[in-house]
Amino acid sequence: MARYGPCHPRKGRILSSHILIADDDPAVLALLETILKEAGHTVTGCLSGHAALGELRSSSNQPPATSYQLLLTDLKMPDLDGFALLEQVRRDYPDLPVLVITSSQSVPDAVRALKQGALDYVQKPFEAQGLLATVDSALEVGRLRRESRLLAAELAKPYGFDNIVGDDPAMKQVYSLIRDVASANTTVLVEGESGTGKELVAQAIHYAGPRGRKPLVKVNCVTLSETLLESELFGHEKGAFTGAIASKRGLFEIAADGTLFLDEIGELTPSTQAKLLQFLQDGTFRRVGGVHDLRVDVRIIAATNRNLKEMVDQSRYREDLYYRLHVFPISLPPLRDRKGDVPRLARHFLGRFAAEMGKQLRGFTPGALRLLETHDWPGNVRELENAVERAAVLCKSAQVSETELAFLLPPTQPPANWSVMDHSVTPNDTLPLSQRVETFEAELIRQALQASSGNHTQAAKILGLKRTTLLAKMKKLAE
Ligand SMILES: Nc1ncnc2c1ncn2[C@@H]1O[C@H](COP(=O)(O)OP(=O)(O)OP(=O)(O)O)[C@@H](O)[C@H]1O
Ligand SMILES: [Mg+2]
Repeated sequence: MARYGPCHPRKGRILSSHILIADDDPAVLALLETILKEAGHTVTGCLSGHAALGELRSSSNQPPATSYQLLLTDLKMPDLDGFALLEQVRRDYPDLPVLVITSSQSVPDAVRALKQGALDYVQKPFEAQGLLATVDSALEVGRLRRESRLLAAELAKPYGFDNIVGDDPAMKQVYSLIRDVASANTTVLVEGESGTGKELVAQAIHYAGPRGRKPLVKVNCVTLSETLLESELFGHEKGAFTGAIASKRGLFEIAADGTLFLDEIGELTPSTQAKLLQFLQDGTFRRVGGVHDLRVDVRIIAATNRNLKEMVDQSRYREDLYYRLHVFPISLPPLRDRKGDVPRLARHFLGRFAAEMGKQLRGFTPGALRLLETHDWPGNVRELENAVERAAVLCKSAQVSETELAFLLPPTQPPANWSVMDHSVTPNDTLPLSQRVETFEAELIRQALQASSGNHTQAAKILGLKRTTLLAKMKKLAE
């Protein structure tokens, strides 16, 4: 491999780029080097495709980044020819623009290279000005590609790791599983109660992996009838069923090279289960009404809040499908089992809602935090998110207090703060305790009677009293 060191930029030239050249003809390499160095670029020359590939690999620890900004390659080289090199570069370094070196006799080859993803070609014998103009515009394309990749990464951030909040050991285990599986093609099954963050995890896996720039298509298996779901997923051929006036691509095809997120996978009917199983077994599927098997490269992430194993044991779910889905399970803990994360999550949501609502909200009072921590959160993180949103709307001061979270209290339990009660019964601080308790009791009895439309037995049940005790209390209050 011939190597050419950096040279000083030509006077007046601001941009110096790092250019890699692959050509088995030392004379061509030397000429290109002279022209490009004269223009202020840094050049590395390689006498074979293999050497160029090795150079790209050692210039970057990991694809898709490389410190080179342009590759110029000959097409006919003895070991790894220009086409094979181009193919590897398109796959591993998609941002790197490639120019092919051709002669006037090899125009068909140049056309083929353009079809395979080369950006342009430079023709021998070289004419310096034309060559530099082509090089400059290829460098510009490379710059735009890198920028758009960064932009795409920026846009994907809300769906990435940073958005999953929680420090509990069970969540740390989840992060580590996401990291491990993101770059593989393995099918993932995300399990957990409703609102635990299954969709968030599916998004993080997709965007953290190499498919992150390809589509993430989400399907909720419960919202569509069997026929519609199958046509939606696999597409259909014209005339497959009444109303199928034209053939249609399904979501499997639309998600090509990306990820298909199948939510509520426990709800699939036996027919759809069989079709999904075929895809998971051999990567093929058939459009509804179709006669040919189609093949796509799609990664499946499935989610469920059902116990699939139990459904298998009860013969309500295909065992073979279960095992195909259960290759890499990720189980999300319910929020009640990681109460330590509640304040952090609450602050995270409050920050977001405050910004959205244009309010200055600086966190929660200790009483409000206590309330958040004692609640059981049957609806998990989604319930917490909704509660914080509601509190943010209600909040009139800088901190959310228990007043704005009073709706979390069970109706029969005396509230932690008195102000959540009807203002007419807010006890006067100057009254003796017994009278304040009496006022409070009277109000609870009134509410229970109202809720039970005057039915004493039911009202007593709400209050946890015997019917006779309730009647006695009512009599006493009436005196
Ligand atoms: N760890 C978390 N950090 C931040 N936000 C979270 C977290 N977990 C869940 N959320 C938020 O809670 C809401 C519910 O999450 P998600 O939709 O992912 O839950 P799910 O498990 O898919 O629920 P379901 O089974 O009901 O579909 C979303 O708004 C999500 O952004
Ligand atoms: Mg969901």
